[in-house]
Amino acid sequence: MPSVTNIAVLASGRGSNLQAIIDSIESGYLKAQITVVISDVGDAYALERARKHGIEAVFIDTKRFSSRELYEKEALRVLRKHDAELVLLAGYMRVVGRTLLDAYKNRMLNIHPALLPAFPGLHAQKQAFDHGVKVAGCTVHFVDDKLDGGPIILQRCVEVAEDDTTETLADRILEQEHKIYPEAVKLFVENRLRIEGRKVKIIKS
Ligand code: GAR
Repeated sequence: MPSVTNIAVLASGRGSNLQAIIDSIESGYLKAQITVVISDVGDAYALERARKHGIEAVFIDTKRFSSRELYEKEALRVLRKHDAELVLLAGYMRVVGRTLLDAYKNRMLNIHPALLPAFPGLHAQKQAFDHGVKVAGCTVHFVDDKLDGGPIILQRCVEVAEDDTTETLADRILEQEHKIYPEAVKLFVENRLRIEGRKVKIIKS
């Protein structure tokens, strides 16, 4: 791998986690570059954030493709065109299929707004809040074929306050997401992660 890792980000929405990665690169914390941001949503603010920072922004309209496989083949073509070595899912709201999983095995990360394996899937913060948890949080993990199920790299806890709502809790979880995602990406680009079964060993620097 070259000294600067080429990263691609897949995002479906506002892209605040994308922004955290961009900021970490621009501050010099992360020795990497984002070569492309791909979205399945044409007006996703994530695309706008990319353009503002001179990053190629690509909308791939799923409606143009008759199957997930064909859609992902197009995404893969774009990823390869931009020499992506690491793929980050950042609020990407699609299940990843075989095509991308095989191409980026152990090179695709996701951020999830819950302490996995609790509360996978959609609206994780609401699931946790409604369940009455006292501690919530977020997780960065490798992506495999199980929904939000791959080996865990980093997690961070957030205590639930008596006066929290789903929204206030989600905001505090998001603050932690913006910290642990760049941290996890840094560990990856510094080649300090070793997957051993379900566990991810972190090599000391
Ligand atoms: C984040 O909270 C992220 O953890 C979550 O979507 C939000 C995207 O926000 N992802 C998932 O729920 C994936 N299962 P962002 O677009 O501002 O980064």
